[in-house]
Amino acid sequence: MGAQPLMRIENLVKHFHVRLGAFGERAATVHALDDITFDILDGETLSLVGESGCGKSTTGFTLLNLHKATHGKVIYQGKNIVELDEKAMRPYRRQLQIVFQDPYSTLNPRMTIGEAVGEPILFHKLATKAELKDGIATLLADVGLPPRFASRYPHELSGGQRQRVAIARALACQPKFIVCDEAISALDVSVQAQIINLLLDLQQKYGLTYLFIAHDLAVVRHISDRVGVMYLGRLAELTSREELFDNPLHPYTKALLSAVPEADPAHERSRKRQVLQGDVPSPLSPPSGCRFHTRCPVAMDVCSKVVPEWREALPGHHVACHAVTEGISGTGGLPG
Ligand SMILES: Nc1ncnc2c1ncn2[C@@H]1O[C@H](COP(=O)(O)OP(=O)(O)OP(=O)(O)O)[C@@H](O)[C@H]1O
Ligand code: SF4
Ligand SMILES: [Mg+2]
Repeated sequence: MGAQPLMRIENLVKHFHVRLGAFGERAATVHALDDITFDILDGETLSLVGESGCGKSTTGFTLLNLHKATHGKVIYQGKNIVELDEKAMRPYRRQLQIVFQDPYSTLNPRMTIGEAVGEPILFHKLATKAELKDGIATLLADVGLPPRFASRYPHELSGGQRQRVAIARALACQPKFIVCDEAISALDVSVQAQIINLLLDLQQKYGLTYLFIAHDLAVVRHISDRVGVMYLGRLAELTSREELFDNPLHPYTKALLSAVPEADPAHERSRKRQVLQGDVPSPLSPPSGCRFHTRCPVAMDVCSKVVPEWREALPGHHVACHAVTEGISGTGGLPG
């Protein structure tokens, strides 16, 4: 894995302006993403985790400039790509791909698999018409599908096979970076393992960088080099996979991890569980100070007043928490 940043995300903000009420009479702001700063390293798999609605997909969409950022920068190849219009974005679009949870929604039911995979090749002029058939066969082989699948239609394929086609379409663009937004979440567990192994093989073969968005912490533990934990539009913690699972610092991370069953039954019986109380507050009016203070078991006075600084608490280990800054949270477990 290269240690150079492929992408630098600086103070990125995404607010959605919405209208509420039966007649849309009230304007409101959804604070989907507020001031997140991190690097994505060349060749790594960086996972984003957190409860539903905490801003994982919005991060993926905004850093690909598929949602217009409200504020902040995404530096890629020396350019702040979030300020580019669609025309200026074109050279970068090909390199920056996204794979979704439901490939059915992105595959045209009237296009054969060959046409679906060939479309981006022709659009980006990556092969001539004469080279197209071989190009499609190579891509299908890359994702573990035989060449005869080129003449099939999406409805003739299983969920796992459709996801392989979606990955082949992304690969057809010869990307450097792929956002995998819950790309395996809808699949059966055995198929999930196959698609994960495929993604890891392709990463090795083509030097890809992944932003992997997922709910399942066991999968995240298997696939990631580093993991970022999000809470209500902000990053709570980001560090290497080993450090996050062995030495979580943020109370929210500790609570999330404590919900994951241990492989060792003896360990599982003896450990304390930290159950997260209540729901994630509304992003229409997020709590002041630390957004986690309404649910945090170790919240202090300062937590509701001052936004905790996003800082490198240990080498390569970023966290935003007053208790960590003051040395209170330490490395131990939370009261159970
Ligand atoms: N287009 C939009 N317009 C208004 N609000 C939006 C829009 N897209 C997302 N949101 C809101 O922004 C917040 C973050 O949503 P996001 O989809 O990024 O969360 P997520 O972490 O991906 O959740 P999940 O795990 O359920 O996929 C949510 O409150 C969501 O309702
Ligand atoms: S800043 Fe305060 S409320 Fe937020 S996680 Fe840390 S201790 Fe809990
Ligand atoms: Mg999402």
